[in-house]
Amino acid sequence: MKLEHLSWDSNFFDIKVGRITLNCSENDIQALLEDAKNRNYQLVYVFTNKETELTSDVLNWWSGKLVDRKIIYKKDISSNIKEESLILSYSRAEINDELLHLAYLSGQFSRFRLDKKFPEGSFERMYKEWLKKSVSGELADKVFVAKEAGKIVGFVTLKINKNNGGNIGLIAVDKNVQGKGLGTQLINACENYLNNNFIKILRVPAQLENFQACRFYEKYGFKEDNITNIYHFWI
Ligand SMILES: CC(C)(COP(=O)(O)OP(=O)(O)OC[C@H]1O[C@@H](n2cnc3c(N)ncnc32)[C@H](O)[C@@H]1OP(=O)(O)O)[C@@H](O)C(=O)NCCC(=O)NCCS
Repeated sequence: MKLEHLSWDSNFFDIKVGRITLNCSENDIQALLEDAKNRNYQLVYVFTNKETELTSDVLNWWSGKLVDRKIIYKKDISSNIKEESLILSYSRAEINDELLHLAYLSGQFSRFRLDKKFPEGSFERMYKEWLKKSVSGELADKVFVAKEAGKIVGFVTLKINKNNGGNIGLIAVDKNVQGKGLGTQLINACENYLNNNFIKILRVPAQLENFQACRFYEKYGFKEDNITNIYHFWI
């Protein structure tokens, strides 16, 4: 277990950010946080597996907070081609307000939105960048959209990691048209695309607090792959 410097996060938030992945006892955390403080870290993420929750002693001492219980769902892809008649591939390189609104909705349970210690606007800046880099092809291989009356009302971004299968990044359906099957068709489009590319696994992350999304994935047939507790320590 060690303290790892996170360059991307540090540059993006303009503060020194590190991460500790806890895989042994909690006792070492105190020493590592002390060390982080001495080395001028301002924010440390602590990741633990689902069985390990930090005690109130360490949380109170360092004002640490559990900000995310992140679940990765996994599904094997069958060879059946599934219904996706309402879905189109998004082929433009620019984002628009409809997509941006949906990207923010996708991150409604994000720790970068829920943790109010980040400077105002950080979450929006991050999700805008994520969206831009997804449509430009840097962070996603495919973006699918659902349209109604010429308006984009749903979208999903998909990345293929050769060894690891397909991973969904962002997904959302506008509140006014939720529950009509568009979310299911967006995932169907991902499955069909992966199946056509001989990729047999699809993964998607969610927050356990996002009951609606979890129920949706479970109904679709996704199963738990792993769960990680994520804490933020502003030191
Ligand atoms: C999750 C989401 C993409 C699902 O899209 P959707 O178009 O509403 O989903 P579907 O209509 O295909 O729903 C399929 C199933 O999901 C479940 N579901 C969908 N909306 C639900 C809701 N509001 N409450 C409970 N279950 C819901 C239902 O089991 C539904 O099946 P049913 O209609 O037979 O009951 C959409 O709700 C959404 O955009 N949520 C906000 C953004 C978000 O949280 N994204 C996930 C980030 S991890």
